Amino acid sequence: MKILVTGGTGYIGSHTIVELLKAGFDVCTIDNFDNSYPSVLENLNKITGTQIEFDEVDIRDKAALKKYFQSKSGIDAVIHFAANKAVGESVALPLKYYENNVGGTINLLEAMQEAGINNIVFSSSCTVYGEANPPVDEYTAILPATSPYGNTKQICEEILMDQTRASDIKVVSLRYFNPVGAHESALIGELPIGVPNNLVPFITQTAIGKREFLTVFGNDYPTPDGTCIRDYIHVVDLAIAHVAAINYLANKKYRDAFSVFNLGTGNGNSVLEVIQTFEAVTGEKLAYKIGGRRAGDVVQIYASCDKALKELGWKTERSLEECMRSSWKWEQHLQSMGNK
Ligand code: NAD
Ligand code: UFG
Repeated sequence: MKILVTGGTGYIGSHTIVELLKAGFDVCTIDNFDNSYPSVLENLNKITGTQIEFDEVDIRDKAALKKYFQSKSGIDAVIHFAANKAVGESVALPLKYYENNVGGTINLLEAMQEAGINNIVFSSSCTVYGEANPPVDEYTAILPATSPYGNTKQICEEILMDQTRASDIKVVSLRYFNPVGAHESALIGELPIGVPNNLVPFITQTAIGKREFLTVFGNDYPTPDGTCIRDYIHVVDLAIAHVAAINYLANKKYRDAFSVFNLGTGNGNSVLEVIQTFEAVTGEKLAYKIGGRRAGDVVQIYASCDKALKELGWKTERSLEECMRSSWKWEQHLQSMGNK
């Protein structure tokens, strides 16, 4: 089978390409380098020993996308990562998010339909659950989104569901919890542009000296140590889940044309636990201060992943320790490369 990966030079897309090739799939990929660099392709070539089939295509450009599909033959399924993902930016620039995340997905669906491609795996997010009682399963009610970014994920899921009713398309929507970590080679990982919003890149950048200290956003939450709880999933485990999702579509094991799966570990860890784990596995002492709560943070969320285990035959294998170890190795690699 040949899989088109949109957003393939991004954080999760690049790790997924590695796992798809490892599993024996053919892969082609597109990106517009809005949040990634061409150097990722060289590193993917090094890791996989394969010349990655890449074209620079912007999914907002419907004509270019259709032309791309006309020029490629044999694509069996699409894994759709390409989107903007910064929650805060989406509040300031909602139209950018609706145009790219929603408009881009519509363009992709139209181009797929024209090309007769009927399988898609979509990148969704646990943000669709908002503040819910964990562990959260797939039947948990979807709450009104708290940001335009979160809303784009909800809208896209609805569009995809509608499209399954109107065509032969089969959809797997994967709701990621908190992806962290990097490939063991340290050749690919997350490349936050500017000051990171997310916890783990902020931790590693602080430990390496790029940031003075980490602010823990609130220690007065109703949790055992007062800090927020999340389900941190290693990006390689997450990437492997996409291979399982493609197999699920290919083997026609699905019961519904639109299926949704939570992808997490099933464990919740607090911010302080993450810091302590980082310190324990790296031997680094992290400079941090307790600050006020960050607007919009949910107190605690972690997944129930029973459905993914039962239907995809997938579960995570990498620990929080491994997440911290690989994130640190990646940060050190970035520094050795002059952060390029
Ligand atoms: P990323 O920014 O690292 O990767 C996305 C890639 O898509 C980038 O390489 C970017 O250049 C590309 N892209 C963006 N707009 C494009 C366009 N118009 N045309 C072509 N390429 C375009 O992000 P990621 O962390 O790898 O996230 C991948 C997907 O997973 C996104 O849809 C994101 O919303 C979703 N997701 C991410 C997280 C997370 O915490 N990382 C959590 C839940 C869901
Ligand atoms: N945190 C800090 N200090 C920091 C950064 C984060 O204490 O400098 C805390 C946050 O308050 C939160 C936890 O660390 O309690 C995790 O925060 P992240 O920003 O790493 O992750 P979020 O759970 O807030 O959000 C992530 C993605 C979103 C996505 C959401 C749900 O960044 O894009 O998961 O999928 F919408």
